[in-house]
Amino acid sequence: NTQPKSIIVIFGATGDLAKRKLFPSIFRLYKENKLSEDFAVVGVARRPWTNDELRSNVKKSVEKLQSENADVEKFASHFYYQPFDVTDVASYQQLNHLLSDLDKQYNVPGNRIFYLAMAPEFFGTIASNLKDEGLTSTEGWSRLVIEKPFGHNHPSAKQLNEQIRQAFNEDQIYRIDHYLGKEMVQNIEVIRFANALFEPMWNNQYISNIQITSSETLGVEDRGRYYESSGALRDMVQNHMLQMVALLAMEPPIKLTPEEIRSEKVKVLRALRKMDVTEVDDYFVRGQYGKGIVEEQEVQAYNEEQSVDPDSNTETFVSGKLMIDNFRWAGVPIYIRTGKRMKEKSTEIVVQFKDLPMNLYFNKGKNIHPNLLVIHIQPDEGITLHLNARKADSAATSTPIKLDYCNNCGDKMNTPEAYERLIYDCMRGDATNFTHWDEVSLSWEFVDTISQAWADKKADNFPNYESGSMGPKESDALLAKDGFHWWNIS
Ligand code: BG6
Repeated sequence: NTQPKSIIVIFGATGDLAKRKLFPSIFRLYKENKLSEDFAVVGVARRPWTNDELRSNVKKSVEKLQSENADVEKFASHFYYQPFDVTDVASYQQLNHLLSDLDKQYNVPGNRIFYLAMAPEFFGTIASNLKDEGLTSTEGWSRLVIEKPFGHNHPSAKQLNEQIRQAFNEDQIYRIDHYLGKEMVQNIEVIRFANALFEPMWNNQYISNIQITSSETLGVEDRGRYYESSGALRDMVQNHMLQMVALLAMEPPIKLTPEEIRSEKVKVLRALRKMDVTEVDDYFVRGQYGKGIVEEQEVQAYNEEQSVDPDSNTETFVSGKLMIDNFRWAGVPIYIRTGKRMKEKSTEIVVQFKDLPMNLYFNKGKNIHPNLLVIHIQPDEGITLHLNARKADSAATSTPIKLDYCNNCGDKMNTPEAYERLIYDCMRGDATNFTHWDEVSLSWEFVDTISQAWADKKADNFPNYESGSMGPKESDALLAKDGFHWWNIS
C-alpha cells in the first residue's frame, strides 16, 4: 500500500522537533501523494493551544516548501490540537474519543502512530497510559515512535525498554535514529553489496583502516541543560556513530528484511572489543571547545554557554578507535570522530585501502597515494574513489586522480528529509531503519565504560580545542600512534 492510512499523534507538538522536522516531513509526503486525503495529525502538549494555533504553526513551518500542487491551507486543516497532561488519565480518555471521531471522519481503520517527540522522562508513563486507557486496542495497528535519548546509560535504557514493552511489542516500537533515514547512510549497504569491486576487498586483507567523521559547526545553542548531562558521547556516538559502524562492518544479510539486517548489525556490535575502564584512554579522546572563529564568526567557549557549568567536565568532541574482533575485521581500526564547533558541517566516511606490496611508481619523490573510497553523507551526497593514474603532462610517473559521483548536485531539495523517509517507513510498517532494542542495548554497554572512565576522572585540560578547528591534538595523536592520519577530504 503506497498510501497508508493512519492517524499520527505527536506528543510534544509545540516543540522544536515538530516544527523543524516533523511538520515539514509530513507536508512533503503529502505533496508527493504518499498520504491520501485520509489522514489526520493530532498534536498534544501541555500548552493550552487551539486547533487554529497549531494549524498556523504548521503553516509557518512548511511555508518554504509551498508549491502549486500542494494546498497548505488544506494540509493544515488535517491537524488537530489537544492540551494534554501526560500524567492524567482523563487526557488519554479525551484523546481516545478524538481519535475515534477522526477515524470515522477520515475513514481510517484504527491505525495509530504515537510519536513521542518530547522529554524522555515521560516515555514510560505515556506508553503505559496509552495501553491502559485503550488507545492501542483498535481494529487497526498501533505503533510507538520514540525519539532519543533512549535512556542515559544501559541500566536506564533497559528500565525504559521494559516499561514500554509492557504496553507495546518489540515490533510495534520504532526507535528513531535519524541518521538511518539519510540517503547516503542507506546507500552504504548498496555500495557494499551491489558492487563486485568492493565486497571482495571489504576486509582486513585489503582495508587498512576506516574513518568516520561527523563534524558540526553549531555549538550547544539553547540545549545546554540537556547537553550537560549528555555530552557528545551519548548524543552522537551511542547512536549515530555506532549505527554507521554497524552498517559498514556487517556481513551481507541473507535477505533485505528488517530481521536479517538488524541481526547482522547486532553481531557487529557484539564483536566490538570491550575495554576496561582503565584502558579507555588508549582508545578514546575527549574534547571541549574553547572560543574561536567558526564560519567567520567569533564564538564563545562551551563553558561560557547558557546553562553550562563554567567548570564543566562535559565533552563536546569525541574521537575513538574501535576494534571489531571477528574474522573479517581483526586488526583493522575503525576511527570515529564527532564534535561541535568544528571547522565545517560534514559527515563523511573514508575507507583507506592497504598499500600495494611493492611500489613501482612515484609521485614526485613521494610514495603513491593510497586508494580511498570516500562516502559523503552530508552536505554533499556521493562517493569519491581516489585512484592513481598517469597524467600526460606531468613529470610524476603516477598522480592521484578522483572518480566522483554526486547524488544531490542537481537539486539538493530533491533528496527526501531523513524524517520524511522514517515517518513513511513507520506508516508502512517497515522497521529496517529503526534501531532494535538489541542494538540500543549493546551500544549503551559499550559507551557506558567510556562515560564511566570520564566521569571518574575529570578532564584536566578543558577546553582543549579551539572552535573552528578539527578537535584537540590528542585526536591526531590517536591515529599517529598507529601510523595513520585523519583524511580531511572535503
Ligand atoms: C542529534 C543530536 O541527534 O543529531 C544533535 O542530538 C546533533 O546534537 C544532530 O546536532 C546532528 O544531526 P545532523 O542530521 O544535523 O547531522
